[in-house]
Amino acid sequence: MAKLYLTALVLVCFHYFAVSDFQGDALYAFKKALNATSSQLGDWNLNHVNPCSSWSNIMCNGNNVTAITLPTMGFTGTLSPEIAVIKSLSTLNLEGNYITGGIPAEFGNLTNLVTLDLGNNSLIDQIPSSLGNLKNLRFLTLSQNHLTGSIPETLSTLPSLINLFLDSNNLSGQIPEQLFQVSKFNFSGNKLDCGNNSRWSCDSDSTNSGASNKSKVGLLAGPISGLMVTLLLVGLLLLLCKHRYKGYKGEVFEDVPGEIDRKIAFGQLKRFAWRELQLATENFSEENVIGQGGFGKVYKGVLADGTKVAVKQSTNYERLGEMLLFCVKLR
Ligand SMILES: *[C@@H]1O[C@H](CO)[C@@H](O)[C@H](O)[C@H]1NC(C)=O
Ligand SMILES: *[C@@H]1O[C@H](CO)[C@@H](O)[C@H](O)[C@H]1NC(C)=O
Ligand SMILES: *[C@@H]1O[C@H](CO)[C@@H](O)[C@H](O)[C@H]1NC(C)=O
Ligand SMILES: *[C@@H]1O[C@H](CO)[C@@H](O)[C@H](O)[C@H]1NC(C)=O
Ligand SMILES: *[C@@H]1O[C@H](CO)[C@@H](O)[C@H](O)[C@H]1NC(C)=O
Ligand SMILES: *[C@@H]1O[C@H](CO)[C@@H](O)[C@H](O)[C@H]1NC(C)=O
Ligand SMILES: *[C@@H]1O[C@H](CO)[C@@H](O)[C@H](O)[C@H]1NC(C)=O
Repeated sequence: MAKLYLTALVLVCFHYFAVSDFQGDALYAFKKALNATSSQLGDWNLNHVNPCSSWSNIMCNGNNVTAITLPTMGFTGTLSPEIAVIKSLSTLNLEGNYITGGIPAEFGNLTNLVTLDLGNNSLIDQIPSSLGNLKNLRFLTLSQNHLTGSIPETLSTLPSLINLFLDSNNLSGQIPEQLFQVSKFNFSGNKLDCGNNSRWSCDSDSTNSGASNKSKVGLLAGPISGLMVTLLLVGLLLLLCKHRYKGYKGEVFEDVPGEIDRKIAFGQLKRFAWRELQLATENFSEENVIGQGGFGKVYKGVLADGTKVAVKQSTNYERLGEMLLFCVKLR
């Protein structure tokens, strides 16, 4: 019986980490790479496992992070490619910082991205051609950086693009012709050849063609990319599971002793901040003790969202700011 529970626990927690915790890890790596000071994004803290419950500057749909908005925060670091594992992301706004380095090619994996605003930073190197994979991208702003090289041809296959701002960089070469069909564009302030044949100009406000012509390129890409996205997702999941398994095998999970087994159901298992459980159990009040096993006491408690839980304190496994506690939903 106990063995069965242990298996169930391991499966449940594995599932939990695979679904939710990878977002916290990726965001934390992102914050580190941006060189945030200790006073910035203080609540992006790995003790609060789920970014959707308490992290600032983030929006979620359920437990999936959908937006990261960090404009004019004064960040001086670089863009971490790790953020690209958050496939649910639809908005990434880092406008008006001092971010250096290149745009990671991995950003091309963020296939749900609708808005990408990296304008007014200090980004260098070329625009990665992988951005051509962002089939849902509508607004792309890379203005006022130090980007070099030519505009990748792949951008002209973006089927949803309606705003394309690449002005004030160091781009050179030819502008792919289809890009003049985007509703609003600005290529000025570069070393680009906008064509002086009066048909097109470097920004859409001073040209007649293109202003009302919505992009029709890449219509065929839909069904094909659907298959590719599915394959990519499966691959991502496999990769993720492998990574998770490696990352967390160091943690010990134990089963709950038998004396309360009829009162509990194994629901979600996750790591909680010490404070959350302190509040839930009224500071581990003796009045809330509902059992005592070989490894420590079991408390009843109520989480902030009203869920009734049993919290098992494992006395032989302590860490700074975090103890290994088991928290199971009560029936
Ligand atoms: C969150 O993402 C997962 C996997 O991508 C998906 O199955 C689930 O439906 C999403 N949840 C919401 C509320 O969008
Ligand atoms: C990161 O921030 C520290 C302190 O603010 C600074 O000394 C360092 O140069 C920064 N590193 C980068 C890459 O911006
Ligand atoms: C660019 O960003 C800097 C720093 O946030 C800000 O001071 C400046 O006004 C911005 N420039 C433009 C044109 O938005
Ligand atoms: C993300 O993108 C990079 C470069 O575009 C690619 O090599 C990598 O396989 C992708 N990773 C995933 C998990 O899709
Ligand atoms: C543009 O690139 C040239 C070299 O190709 C470099 O000398 C110049 O400083 C760059 N300008 C900006 C604004 O980055
Ligand atoms: C475009 O203008 C440049 C000078 O700015 C000129 O040398 C070139 O011949 C012009 N090209 C065309 C096709 O008119
Ligand atoms: C295009 O970019 C240039 C340089 O950043 C700017 O001066 C101009 O106002 C922009 N045009 C439009 C229509 O946004």
